[in-house]
Amino acid sequence: MKIAILKERRLNETRVAGAPETVKKFVSLGADVIVEKGAGTSASVSDAAFREAGATIAEDVQAALDGAEVVLKIQRPMIAGEKIDELVNFSKGQVLICQMSALSEPEFVAALAASGVTGFAMEMMPRITRAQSMDILSSQSNLAGYKSVLDAAAEFGRAFPMMMTAAGTVPPARVLVMGVGVAGLQAIATAKRLGAVVSATDVRPATKEQVESLGGTFVAIEDEEFAQAQTAGGYAKEMSDAYKEKQAALIAETVQKQDIVICTALIPGRPAPVLISEDMVKTMKPGSVIVDLAVEAGGNCPLSQLGKVVTKNGVKIVGHANVPGRLADDASRLFARNILNFLTPMIGEDAQSLKIDTEDEIIAGTLVTRNGSVVNEAVPSGAVRQPEPEMVGEGEA
Ligand code: NAI
Repeated sequence: MKIAILKERRLNETRVAGAPETVKKFVSLGADVIVEKGAGTSASVSDAAFREAGATIAEDVQAALDGAEVVLKIQRPMIAGEKIDELVNFSKGQVLICQMSALSEPEFVAALAASGVTGFAMEMMPRITRAQSMDILSSQSNLAGYKSVLDAAAEFGRAFPMMMTAAGTVPPARVLVMGVGVAGLQAIATAKRLGAVVSATDVRPATKEQVESLGGTFVAIEDEEFAQAQTAGGYAKEMSDAYKEKQAALIAETVQKQDIVICTALIPGRPAPVLISEDMVKTMKPGSVIVDLAVEAGGNCPLSQLGKVVTKNGVKIVGHANVPGRLADDASRLFARNILNFLTPMIGEDAQSLKIDTEDEIIAGTLVTRNGSVVNEAVPSGAVRQPEPEMVGEGEA
């Protein structure tokens, strides 16, 4: 079986979906690994390091894809109409494993189905114990949460810890973390390690204890709706307008006392909730910093701009794109590990072909396209499902 690891071509993408360690493991399972030339350069992994681990280096993308059963990428390939068409290089029956944004990119899913590629969307990994080591959202969010605090510290004109010096006392920075999922928890821990006074808010009740166990103060409207705000999958639900109003009032009061606000609140498959309005930004002290990790999903602050640091009323609002990619080395290694853990059970004894057991919850949850169709019920139907072949050209209205 040939496994290809391709170079990423999207803007701001610095990661690579393989690491020498995972290449070695695939080779030991009996697979041939082909890495496109230069695929690891921006993550500090040289072609030589991949070669030493047992991979063959392909001169270009066509050579890497030629005869590959399985293709590993970080991001979904670009399709016709984007900067370049990467999908055109794929062949029918190839298996693609990557982050697809399958719930929010129906055009891509439709194009993937039409190309006959079998697609696994890693971001749709079920949140069950067995799949924890395969969860790219967790591995990447953890790094993003850490980096968000360092990015805030770099923009902040003051220190984080309290310092008592001969020249006077420096007060500790006050940090509010909004959204206490994987990224938020790591942001709390990182800000605490730097010596800040940390508080945090979330709509899922389970987070209260987690915040407190990290030494933070929990801030939230704890009413009946709050008690029901977690889905069976462990994610947040979209809250009612009434809750959002009460939450906004509490946040407005809290935000004006902060030096740093780290925004991480997300709702899968939906735009990020707006938590810090323009008016709230106006109440913050000049020199304060907001880092909006939700900027790619529309942002928790409407003033954040993707890929930019903007200053509004003296408040710096950081909207870096692809924050895990700002730690490309670690982010690639963890992503590559997630894929290794996902793919290994599918590689049979002989390593000749993939065994795709659609009865398995992990396979069923992540498999998006197969044999020319969209096969995942969670992916919005109408918009993406291909017409049945027999319907085409029958002249039906
Ligand atoms: P996420 O990235 O989807 O969202 C980030 C946070 O924003 C969540 O905690 C969410 O509750 C919060 N949020 C949403 N709307 C909000 C609002 N209006 N105000 C304030 N906060 C809001 O979530 P993430 O980090 O991917 O995971 C959520 C939880 O899932 C984790 O804390 C964990 O308990 C669980 N999990 C389970 C895994 C497994 O069992 N395999 C793997 C990873 C996470």
